[in-house]
Amino acid sequence: MEEKLDIQKLRAATQDASGGIVYLVGAGPGDPDLLTLRAANLLATADVVVYDNLVSDGILKLINLGAEKIYAGKEKNNHSMSQVDISHLLVILAKKGNKVVRLKGGDPFIFGRGGEELETLIEYSVDYEVVPGITAANGISCYTGIPLTHRDYAQSCLFITGHLKDGTLDLDWPALARRNQTLVIYMGLGAIGEISKKLIQHGLPATTPSAIIENGATSKQRISTDTLARLPESAKLLNFISPSLIIIGQVVALHEKLNWLKDQIQIEKINGCQLKEVV
Ligand SMILES: C[S@@+](CC[C@H](N)C(=O)[O-])C[C@H]1O[C@@H](n2cnc3c(N)ncnc32)[C@H](O)[C@@H]1O
Repeated sequence: MEEKLDIQKLRAATQDASGGIVYLVGAGPGDPDLLTLRAANLLATADVVVYDNLVSDGILKLINLGAEKIYAGKEKNNHSMSQVDISHLLVILAKKGNKVVRLKGGDPFIFGRGGEELETLIEYSVDYEVVPGITAANGISCYTGIPLTHRDYAQSCLFITGHLKDGTLDLDWPALARRNQTLVIYMGLGAIGEISKKLIQHGLPATTPSAIIENGATSKQRISTDTLARLPESAKLLNFISPSLIIIGQVVALHEKLNWLKDQIQIEKINGCQLKEVV
């Protein structure tokens, strides 16, 4: 008979002598209702919480009053602590016997550098546990009525980083420009012009439905849908800022039909660019 994994037993067996432990926790896109119960329980009992800028105020309010809160930053071009410093801080806090929650926006293993932090914890023999979070792609897909897959329009979905390295984007453009797939681009706002141009150059129709969503799945959500060719212009005219997610593919056309966020209305139409905000 298959033996059931006793996670409590496993935890007890793997804890080091100090009793300190780091919980790498995903906070989801921002709405506290989208937090896992496990994450909420850990915030209620942590000794220290080390959090990033993408973690919303609503979620920070769930941290117990006795816990020390440490802001680790990570805004674009304004890292208040380096990645190495953050990893070492986690080690020091755990070695002092603390129950540390390392709280990250979305899911810690999706463009969250969670893997790097765990590698340092392993190096220093610090116990850890990972708690998944709803990544921006999932949360925003559901809150905008844009299914990431659909039997008729998209049989696959790719999560991509649009973060520029040395000023360029080194992506597999022929693979990205395939039809019948959805592209979800994280950190793509700064490179939106290049993304649109390269995808069209590699064969994706300029008319492909595309969306840009700012502060998705939160009460500040803004969304603009347009063609792939016009998306950079929309983003500029409507002043989209970080955090924004880009979704490209036929599934975006379903937004008009499936969008259920009734508080969201069209508030602006500038040069043909449509913007919807939650009011
Ligand atoms: C460093 S990545 C972190 C991703 C995170 N680990 C996740 O799973 O969602 C930050 C990028 O995620 C996207 N993002 C995260 N939360 C978002 C939100 N609420 N609305 C729009 N985009 C978001 C943006 O593209 C942002 O630049």
